[in-house]
Amino acid sequence: MTTSLPNGQTSLMLQMTQRLALSDTHFRRICQLIYQRAGIVLADHKRDMVYNRLVRRLRTLGLDDFGRYLSMLEANQNSAEWQAFINSLTTNLTAFFREAHHFPILAEHARKKSGEYRIWSAAASTGEEPYSLAITLADTLGTAPGRWKVYASDIDTEVLQKARAGVYRQEELKTLSPQQMQRYFMRGTGPHQGLVRVRQELANLVEFAPLNLLDKQYNVPGPFDAIFCRNVMIYFDKTTQQDILHRFVPQLKPDGLLFAGHSENFSNLVREFSLRGQTVYALSKDKA
Ligand SMILES: C[S@@+](CC[C@H](N)C(=O)[O-])C[C@H]1O[C@@H](n2cnc3c(N)ncnc32)[C@H](O)[C@@H]1O
Repeated sequence: MTTSLPNGQTSLMLQMTQRLALSDTHFRRICQLIYQRAGIVLADHKRDMVYNRLVRRLRTLGLDDFGRYLSMLEANQNSAEWQAFINSLTTNLTAFFREAHHFPILAEHARKKSGEYRIWSAAASTGEEPYSLAITLADTLGTAPGRWKVYASDIDTEVLQKARAGVYRQEELKTLSPQQMQRYFMRGTGPHQGLVRVRQELANLVEFAPLNLLDKQYNVPGPFDAIFCRNVMIYFDKTTQQDILHRFVPQLKPDGLLFAGHSENFSNLVREFSLRGQTVYALSKDKA
């Protein structure tokens, strides 16, 4: 059985479901633009991913042509659509206590320090990483104000919104102990069953702000005892990685630690950082 729809609705339905063309030229332009704005290098095999993510923007804006979308974007360098474009093309995969071997190293480092212990989570995504850092520090140093602080940033404003809200599905917290779960999260009830929320006492010690690692200067409350820059450098080319690492140097205390992702190797990139443990770096002796 077919149902006939009024003309306007038929064309709207078509626009919502029809596969649009993404030409080589438009794909290459998208790659150039995200590289210029965020440093992200998109390989050819990411074409379907790019299509799927950006086609949602086109549909939201009522456009049926990538060329028109790009013209609209480039016509105004300050348009809010740029942020939506960036948010669409970042990959935000993360997890609580991801790369678990880093957390005992952090606890050990923090235990030895007096004064306020400060960490920067430089690609914080939806908050799992900075809250894992906060839980580690709360377990190690307590939650008295002034003892520690986590500063968390990301280029993607949408993930930062989720991070600030601090609401997660309970099953995402399976790497936490029952005590950590109890101490640092509240369980949702009724319509919020299955969800948990970070307790205010912990959330007060984590600050979120937008920051592009391509910025020539970082407006952050450093210097830090530890910088977590994990699983973001893999999206950048070598020159961008080197520039970022150079900008980290003044943001790290002389005996501070820089934590990288499992497939990121910083010691072959710049002389300023030396490997101290599995994907953990410190300032090289002559720089510290
Ligand atoms: C795969 S997630 C990694 C999250 C977390 N660090 C972890 O290891 O689980 C990468 C994050 O880097 C962010 N990102 C990409 N380009 C960036 C840039 N130029 N400046 C700051 N953050 C960026 C993305 O928005 C994304 O949230």
